[in-house]
Amino acid sequence: MTVRKALLIGTGGFGRNHLNELVRLQNEGVLALAAVSDLRLTEHAASVVAERGIRHYVDYREMLSKEGAADFVVISTPIQLHAAMSIDALEAGFHVLLEKPPAAAIQDVDRILEAAGRAGKHCAVNFFSPSSTALSLIGSIAASGELGRIRRLKGIALLKRTNAYFRRTPWAGKLVSSGHLVMDGAFHNPTAHLLYSMLRLAELIAEVAGRTAAPARVTAELYHANPIDSDDTSAMRIEMSDGTELTFYVTLCARQSETQRIRIEGTDGALEWGYDDQVNVWSNGTVRSYDCRESAGILERRYRNLIRAMDGNDARLDVSLESARRFTLAANGAFESAVRIKPVTSAGVRLSSQAEDEPGAYIDGIEATIKEAFAAGKLFSEMGVSWAERSEPFELGDYRSFPQRFKLTW
Ligand SMILES: NC(=O)c1ccc[n+]([C@@H]2O[C@H](COP(=O)([O-])OP(=O)(O)OC[C@H]3O[C@@H](n4cnc5c(N)ncnc54)[C@H](O)[C@@H]3O)[C@@H](O)[C@H]2O)c1
Repeated sequence: MTVRKALLIGTGGFGRNHLNELVRLQNEGVLALAAVSDLRLTEHAASVVAERGIRHYVDYREMLSKEGAADFVVISTPIQLHAAMSIDALEAGFHVLLEKPPAAAIQDVDRILEAAGRAGKHCAVNFFSPSSTALSLIGSIAASGELGRIRRLKGIALLKRTNAYFRRTPWAGKLVSSGHLVMDGAFHNPTAHLLYSMLRLAELIAEVAGRTAAPARVTAELYHANPIDSDDTSAMRIEMSDGTELTFYVTLCARQSETQRIRIEGTDGALEWGYDDQVNVWSNGTVRSYDCRESAGILERRYRNLIRAMDGNDARLDVSLESARRFTLAANGAFESAVRIKPVTSAGVRLSSQAEDEPGAYIDGIEATIKEAFAAGKLFSEMGVSWAERSEPFELGDYRSFPQRFKLTW
């Protein structure tokens, strides 16, 4: 069997995890890491590269042109670079594994999709999503009819983020960075995995019922308590083309982080999937629990899945760019519906000291506010929250270009 060769663009920040995992899997004979590209190598990356004899290029385009013997490129760079880098990699004849979110704007995702189609190459996206064990369990429970007709999915993410988080990179919390869209807000970056997972589960539930479901309309209320451009506390409702309603809640201003989860509600029961891949099912007056964790970590699963797809052994990518496109469609729609990011105008906002390990802003009682809205399936304004303002629904029918109504600056 040929050992597939990888290239990595971006070795610092989250790229450190890719670098370490690629090297670990090289030791196991699963793949080989031929070369990396980064403008500056961290001390860690420089030592790995030197120790292993991995070639390093400052210019990723030079790497793409000189490393033609490689098979796929992992891209773990700032969001605003994703489209150009993946299109260059696909056009140079490589398959791609792209970090999430695929791009900030739907037109950029569409340009990557077109490039992949023209090149006949795969483009997978590294969204974390329910394990394949969890997906097949949830698919079979949905297909069995045990939960009755499934009408609603809800996602909830209560997270604490420190000042260091908002200073981690120059584009943190920005809508635009160096003239490029980045949209680094709560649901577009740290909880993008959960929002994607909710859309993926809606897609799966529709599939097992013989339907398709795509985001059709979004209503979103986006706020910030931290001194950032983008959002840190948001709620949205996504109406799907098959009539299913999704609601999603996030804050980065909680006292403590809790396990992110998605609740699937049917007419006869409910199911919850947690970020820890635990599944609980409520039906017929009983609760059942399943542990759906898999032994391989997420990066290993994503590389192995892409390699199987390249070898023609896996009919489906875990997260294809087509599937990830639904995320960008919903996320862009959320920004359009909200029109702008609004401040949380409450006496209950507490800004911490500037110490790196201190939490950023905390909103008094945000945990209860979000949990009540989650239980009711309502947006903040519909719950009568004092700082909340109503937003208009935004239609996604022929939506092709972001932004239209959203105000990047005001
Ligand atoms: N899957 C996850 O759980 C997860 C977690 C965190 C971040 N991410 C994603 O990873 C990506 C990178 O985020 P980050 O926080 O690591 O960003 P970052 O700003 O820390 O940059 C990552 C690396 O890219 C390098 N880089 C920048 N421009 C480059 C260029 N022109 N050529 C080559 N290298 C270049 C930087 O030097 C750095 O080493 C983003 O898409 C982010 O959303 C994913």
